[in-house]
Amino acid sequence: MFRKLRNRFLILNMSITSLMMLVAFAAIYFLTYSNTQAEIQKTLNPSSGMVLSIKGPDLPKEPNKEIGSTAQVFSGDSSLFEIDVDAHGKILNINSSLGLSDEEYKKAAETAWNNKQGGSITLEGRQWQYAISQMKEQVIQANGQQYTVTENQYRIMYLDVTESYKSLFELLARLIIVGSFMLIVIFVISLYFANRAIKPITETWEKQKQFIANASHELKTPLSIINANYDALLVNQEETIKSQMKWLDYIKIGTDRMTKLINDLLSLAKVEDANFAEDKIPFNMSDAINDVILSMEALMIEKGIKLSQSIEPDIIIKSDSERVKRVVTILFENAVKYTNEKGQIAISLIKSKHQVIYSIKNSGKGIAKEDLPKVFDRFYRADPSRTHDRGSYGLGLSIAKTIINNLGGEINVSSVENEYTTFTFTLGL
Ligand SMILES: Nc1ncnc2c1ncn2[C@@H]1O[C@H](COP(=O)(O)OP(=O)(O)O)[C@@H](O)[C@H]1O
Ligand SMILES: [Mg+2]
Repeated sequence: MFRKLRNRFLILNMSITSLMMLVAFAAIYFLTYSNTQAEIQKTLNPSSGMVLSIKGPDLPKEPNKEIGSTAQVFSGDSSLFEIDVDAHGKILNINSSLGLSDEEYKKAAETAWNNKQGGSITLEGRQWQYAISQMKEQVIQANGQQYTVTENQYRIMYLDVTESYKSLFELLARLIIVGSFMLIVIFVISLYFANRAIKPITETWEKQKQFIANASHELKTPLSIINANYDALLVNQEETIKSQMKWLDYIKIGTDRMTKLINDLLSLAKVEDANFAEDKIPFNMSDAINDVILSMEALMIEKGIKLSQSIEPDIIIKSDSERVKRVVTILFENAVKYTNEKGQIAISLIKSKHQVIYSIKNSGKGIAKEDLPKVFDRFYRADPSRTHDRGSYGLGLSIAKTIINNLGGEINVSSVENEYTTFTFTLGL
């Protein structure tokens, strides 16, 4: 399930990155391509000084001359040549410093003439781009003489674009290589982050599953007690209720436990509900704690526990009084429950500059060092077999921790085995 989620996340991520990279690279390529084309067109454009490059004395060339003898030395530039043709595409004049054969020139002229829009042609392994322009009648000054370039002539200019095309191709190849490499790198990074993003979800999911399993397991015990005692009652149907009180009491114990567990589960669900806002209003925390102590008095007397307290009077904090009281009660109940007979409990509440510190210490067996980090876990009990019949489900401390954390405070435990256990929490004023 999470694998699927992660993969979807990955695919989405990769598609967006690939698309963006494709657009960026296409833009780079397109810009370079159009720049190259613009350069080529600039050179092929007749207004770019083409006429000046024509050697004076050979102008104008007589029409209908033999092709071979018309080849001209074309200003020594081997990346350019020109062919002049008449209105029928017939070669009139060739200006070229290249040693191409007549056949090649003819082929070049024909190809260009047949495709007047412009294009390119391969001659002896090199690529030439051409452009045709109609020559206007004009007078050219060269070598102190005047020449007239006449009427219906066309000039085809060829530019060697082999290198430009080669660099364009190289650019494309580089973009593809860099692009693929980057995609691989991005994939690895995305995979890493996708796994990391998924991890807390998986953990929460596992925790939730564990929680449901634990809760169901805990509910099973009281249910089987109720069932077994109901069966016992069925066997003795003729008896009076009074004589069967034993079974009925067991059933009551079962329902009481279930009630306690369900109440714990409900309050855990409630305090963990992120949408549930605490109503933080100022209240007298010292009084609240004294109330809890009063309610616990009977239990303490029953167990012969000695209580010492140092509670600063009239400490006012802005918090959720009901929940703070709940935490104090949970910690107090634990202290009473886990202290030894005739043990001691010490409570203190002090106020510092920015917070109040509440702590409750009880004598007794304490908690083993390795168990300390686990006591706030749901359903954790140091000694499940012993605590079971007292209706302990190991939810109290996780409820307390959730409440304190939601109220912006911190809760901690420290313990020395066979001596004492102390729970401390802080809350902002
Ligand atoms: N004051 C304490 N002294 C010693 N052990 C404690 C104390 N409070 C809690 N514990 C240990 O932490 C466990 C979890 O406590 P809690 O979440 O309140 O569950 P429960 O009280 O239902 O067992 C207890 O089972 C007990 O082993
Ligand atoms: Mg408890």
